[in-house]
Amino acid sequence: MEKTFLMIKPEMVEAGKQGEIIDLLIKNRFTVRGMKQFRFDRERAGEFYGIHREKPFFPDLVRYITSGDVVGIELERENAVKLLRELVGATDPAGARPGTIRYMYGSSLQTNAVHASDSPESAEKELAIVFAGD
Ligand code: CMP
Repeated sequence: MEKTFLMIKPEMVEAGKQGEIIDLLIKNRFTVRGMKQFRFDRERAGEFYGIHREKPFFPDLVRYITSGDVVGIELERENAVKLLRELVGATDPAGARPGTIRYMYGSSLQTNAVHASDSPESAEKELAIVFAGD
């Protein structure tokens, strides 16, 4: 079984939408193997989004992702990485297809509701960062 990682972003946790999103994951036959609500500190957020460190939006991204609690979820399914990215939809909600999580819950490129790992290697790295020490 392949593992992947989904993170519910601060504006969704603030709005109490965690349950609806988890329900969608379960209806789409993902198995929840671990779940953690927590707040990133700046150092760990920078590590998590390290691939974007040189991008112009990096400081804003770190400020936003550390602004409140997130929910990190370890998921398992065959072909989990690809299928989760299909369920999540395009990074910019304006371009996300109907039925995707970002179409339903995203409101901007930054407040796009959730993050999903883009490869099995990223999933492993992100899971290690989020669940470190648990
Ligand atoms: P996520 O899948 O969490 O990965 C990095 C995040 O950076 C992305 O979703 C967006 O929310 C955010 N972001 C902000 N600005 C941009 C941009 N110009 N291009 C891509 N991602 C951006």
